[in-house]
Amino acid sequence: MGMLDGKAALVTGGGRGIGRGVALALARAGARVVVNDLGASLAGEGGDARPAAQVVDEIVKAGGAAVPNFGSVADVAEAASMVEQVIRTYGRIDILVHVAGILRDRMVFNMTEAEWDAVIAVHLKGMFNAVRAASIAMRETCGGRIISMSSVSALGAPGQPNYAAAKAGILGLTWSTANALAKYGVTTNAILPSGATRMIDSTPRGREVFAETGKWPSELAAETERDPDNVAPLVVYLASDGAQHVNGQVFHSFGYGYTLVAQPQAVRRLEADRRLTPDELATLFPSTLGRGLKPPPGTLFGKTLHERPAGEWKELAHGMRFWQSPWEEP
Ligand SMILES: NC(=O)c1ccc[n+]([C@@H]2O[C@H](COP(=O)([O-])OP(=O)(O)OC[C@H]3O[C@@H](n4cnc5c(N)ncnc54)[C@H](O)[C@@H]3O)[C@@H](O)[C@H]2O)c1
Repeated sequence: MGMLDGKAALVTGGGRGIGRGVALALARAGARVVVNDLGASLAGEGGDARPAAQVVDEIVKAGGAAVPNFGSVADVAEAASMVEQVIRTYGRIDILVHVAGILRDRMVFNMTEAEWDAVIAVHLKGMFNAVRAASIAMRETCGGRIISMSSVSALGAPGQPNYAAAKAGILGLTWSTANALAKYGVTTNAILPSGATRMIDSTPRGREVFAETGKWPSELAAETERDPDNVAPLVVYLASDGAQHVNGQVFHSFGYGYTLVAQPQAVRRLEADRRLTPDELATLFPSTLGRGLKPPPGTLFGKTLHERPAGEWKELAHGMRFWQSPWEEP
């Protein structure tokens, strides 16, 4: 018995990297999968049928069920037709995983309108396009799972204003959809994934690794903590019936572990029995709301958790441990 036997899924951007691992893992768990991938370059140009076709081949050869789709999730009609393809081929749609993504990095003062629009179109509008179409069907069947890839870049990556905005937008759309579709039995969650794919090869650190080792990070990743396939088990679980109670949550997938990310929470408040004046604020602000302010974490988020004192970790089983923030609100 697979965890997802009988389910039908759409994976956008399922031809390469993290999406490929997700499509293969969903199929291994028993789901029938439409593997969508435009086969675009990292910057979102061109198209190539091979990535989606190869993943479908791999799934079918392993005894699973899959068909390819080569459309662009950024196009509202093509996204709707991906969802229709799942329903036409498998009779229903239970799972939507939005993974498709591109990069056009530039400092905000140098960014062109085209660079902004292209990145927002694939990540954020692409999520809306796919969610809109899938949610119509899921609302009718009273059940479904929507899982989207956001990024730690949403938390303030300085050289990625378009990507950070799109990925933060994915969180807003996830929370809105989670609250809107809960009553139909549909859950919506987001993952800040990581894994050494061609996206990571393109970063300054990726180029450094190539200079040092003669290999790209993506060529060194298999079966390590940097393997993009490490994201997939969380997706499979979130897509399963057992995760019905997990809705509107954000997880960071990093190394061989998953972190639950806190929801935005109030940490300080200054108030009076009337409207404060700017002068009063200027006096009170530095010692209250303005004391010890930290910059947004950006891509440093979650990188030092493993350094938390050993006493804060609970041993669960051999090689498995659990950490919970001592200051988590009840
Ligand atoms: N790799 C990481 O460390 C990392 C970190 C944070 C977030 N992410 C996010 O995870 C997702 C997957 O990233 P990856 O590293 O596997 O990248 P990748 O480039 O290896 O894969 C992305 C896939 O999306 C496809 N795609 C691009 N535009 C498309 C479109 N319009 N329609 C359909 N498919 C399209 C590409 O052809 C490609 O196969 C992305 O959303 C990315 O932003 C990745």
